[in-house]
Amino acid sequence: MSPIASLERAPDRLRVTWSDGGHDDFHHVWLRDNCRCETCRDPAAGERLFDTVSVSSDLEPRTVTAADDLVIEWDDGHVSSFPSRWLREHAYGPAARAARAAQPTLWDASIAQDPPHISLAQIDASDEGRRRWLRLIRDYGFAIVLDVPTREDAVVQLAERIAFVQETNFGRTFEVVSKPDPNNLAYTSHRLFSHTDIPNRHSAVNLQLLHCIQNDATGGESILVDGFEAARRLQATDPDAFELLRTVEVPWRFQDDDTEIQNRFPVLHTDRDGRLVEIRLNTGIMAPLDTDPELVVPFYRALRTFGLLLRDPDLEYHFRMAPGHCQVFDNQRVLHARAAFDPSTGRRHLQGCYVDKDDALGRLRTLERQLAASDSVGVAAGDGPASHDARGGGHLPSTSR
Ligand code: OGA
Ligand code: ZN
Ligand code: ZN
Repeated sequence: MSPIASLERAPDRLRVTWSDGGHDDFHHVWLRDNCRCETCRDPAAGERLFDTVSVSSDLEPRTVTAADDLVIEWDDGHVSSFPSRWLREHAYGPAARAARAAQPTLWDASIAQDPPHISLAQIDASDEGRRRWLRLIRDYGFAIVLDVPTREDAVVQLAERIAFVQETNFGRTFEVVSKPDPNNLAYTSHRLFSHTDIPNRHSAVNLQLLHCIQNDATGGESILVDGFEAARRLQATDPDAFELLRTVEVPWRFQDDDTEIQNRFPVLHTDRDGRLVEIRLNTGIMAPLDTDPELVVPFYRALRTFGLLLRDPDLEYHFRMAPGHCQVFDNQRVLHARAAFDPSTGRRHLQGCYVDKDDALGRLRTLERQLAASDSVGVAAGDGPASHDARGGGHLPSTSR
């Protein structure tokens, strides 16, 4: 049976009704622009050989037939053919788009019972191990990697398994130690409130790695919070506050002797479907607010409401980093914090670096494709999506509460 049950023609589009029910609309201009034939696309590069601008929005099919493929002969004689599976994968009705959107697994403090974690050995054992690590990061916004050698630059070698290291004004890597003349509060022993790193950069750093080399000082416990869950609660309980944080542009500024990087971004960034895609929040480097005077008090009230939510014990995952642990988190979703520590009681040394999420998630898509292909020829069995009981292995980080 053909996956396409019937076709209906309308002036500007085709409606495809699928044999298992449901239908999707495909506009003529969209179909012509997405022709897969060898005259239209370079078969190796996969890129268009014609100019999209040359596709008229008024073009019409002369004939349309559907079996396994949808075949269209256009009024200029060009023939386009679309496998029905490809069409389904690229359908753009509201349901199809919603099904394709990222589905983060939101979490709260109870994640401490089984935090997403994986050992370096598991990551290196197989492509499935690497895929599991990347899925944890994609779905939970973080994963703790265990048994990373406690030597400098091991964090870079870990990062390079999934992406390119992203250099910033703090260097290719940065040493989180208490030191004289710090240019960043992280390089002191002060408490750090939940924050995202470097919201002042236009291209925000997005995946962050913090590798514990030594942690002998009293204090310095780590905290992670799912900012998407906090924002969901904010939207449910105080939609006006959510709207203010989504719309008021905040000036974020970092400045030291050599650098001054400033940009304006709201705290919450949503896409056109209203889905939250990014959080930028680091009150330590919030420059003096310069916005509509009428918004100043409402903005601060909204920020306070969100800040208190982020600090709710019901949301905070507390743990203590041990040497060899590496936090890997999505800095655009998961906020991180640490308690103050007492440097007179011992040394605390984390080494960090940033990588681009595009590279890591791109690596995941490639792995998914390769593993699916090898599954389908029966070479290897993959594991399912990251789920509660497939979160990890190795020794769990100890929780601090
Ligand atoms: C940082 C940071 C947290 C910590 O370096 O960006 O927030 O645990 N460090 O020291
Ligand atoms: Zn073509
Ligand atoms: Zn930080």
